[in-house]
Amino acid sequence: MKVRKAVLPVAGMGTRFLPATKAVPKEMLPVVDRPLIQYAVEEAWAAGIEQVIFVSSRGKDAMADHFDRAPELERSLREKGKDKLLQAVENASSRVGDISMVRQDNPRGLGHAVWCARELVGNEPFAILLPDDMMWNRDASGAETTPVLKQMVDEFERLSSSIIAVMEVDPNQSDKYGVVDPMGEDGDSIQAKGLVEKPPAGTAPSNLAVIGRYVLTPRIFDLLGRQGAGAGGEIQLTDAMAQLLKEQSIYGYRFKGQRFDCGDKTGYQMANLALAMEQTEIRQRLLPFIKQQLPGWSA
Ligand code: UTP
Repeated sequence: MKVRKAVLPVAGMGTRFLPATKAVPKEMLPVVDRPLIQYAVEEAWAAGIEQVIFVSSRGKDAMADHFDRAPELERSLREKGKDKLLQAVENASSRVGDISMVRQDNPRGLGHAVWCARELVGNEPFAILLPDDMMWNRDASGAETTPVLKQMVDEFERLSSSIIAVMEVDPNQSDKYGVVDPMGEDGDSIQAKGLVEKPPAGTAPSNLAVIGRYVLTPRIFDLLGRQGAGAGGEIQLTDAMAQLLKEQSIYGYRFKGQRFDCGDKTGYQMANLALAMEQTEIRQRLLPFIKQQLPGWSA
C-alpha cells in the first residue's frame, strides 16, 4: 500500500532551547532562512506524501500561519518587485489544503503524540518525521543524496515492512536514543530482533540508534493505545514498536545523507553552519570570519 500520510509531532516543550522556546515553538527556529518545520514538510512532499498531519499544542499557532497565505505581505513584495522573496513566501503556502492539525492535550511523550493522529491517518501505512531531526541531502563527501524519507518509502515498498531510520552512534551516547537489537541484514536494512529505549552506556545491544524518521504500519496505533508510560514517565514510541516486533518485522534503515540534531544547541549550530556554507553570498563572508576567529579559539 502506498504511503500517503505523514505525521509530524510538534507538541513537545523544547526545554533544551529555553528561554528561546518560551513563546516561539522550537520547530519555528530558523536554519539560515527557513524554519525547521519547513525542511521536514518539504522532505515529506519530496517523498510523495499527500497529506501532512501536525500534532500540535497550545501556543504553536505560528506553525499553522507559516503554511497559510499572507495576502498583505505578498501584495507588498509584489508591488516592490521583490520576486525572489515573494516566491519564497508563496512556496511555503503552496499546499495549504494538504496540511491538517490535531492537538495533543499534554506533552505525554512521542508515542502519545503519534497516537493522537490515529483518526486522521486511519488504517494505512504512514510516515513520521520529527522536525528537530533535520536531514541534509548530502553524504560525507558532499555528494547529493535522495531525500531521506523518499529512500525509506522506497525501502518500505521493497520489504513490505515497517522501516525506521538508524545511524551508528558513539556507544557512550546510547542513553539518548532508542537502540536496535539487530538480527540479519538485507542491503542497507537491518532486521530488528528487539528495540530498547535509552539503554545506559555499556548495556546497549548495538550502536545503531533510531533517529526521527519512521514508516510504520497502522497496527502501531492499537499498541500505542495500550502502552503505559516508559522511560522518563512518557509514552514511548520505541516501546510500542518493540511490541509491534512481536507481530511484524521491522527493519532499521541506514539512510544516505546527514542528520543534524536540531533539538540540541550544538547540532542546531552545525546545521546552520553547513547550510549557510552552501550559499555563495553567505560563504564569501562567513568563511573569512571563521578563519579569522580560529587562532583565538582552543579545543
Ligand atoms: P523531544 O524530546 O526531542 O522534544 O521530542 P521536546 O520535548 O520538545 O524537547 P526537549 O527535550 O524538552 O528539549 C521529539 C519530538 O517529539 C515531539 C517533539 O515536539 C519533537 O518533535 N513530542 C514530544 C510531542 O509532540 N509530544 C510529546 O509529548 C513529546
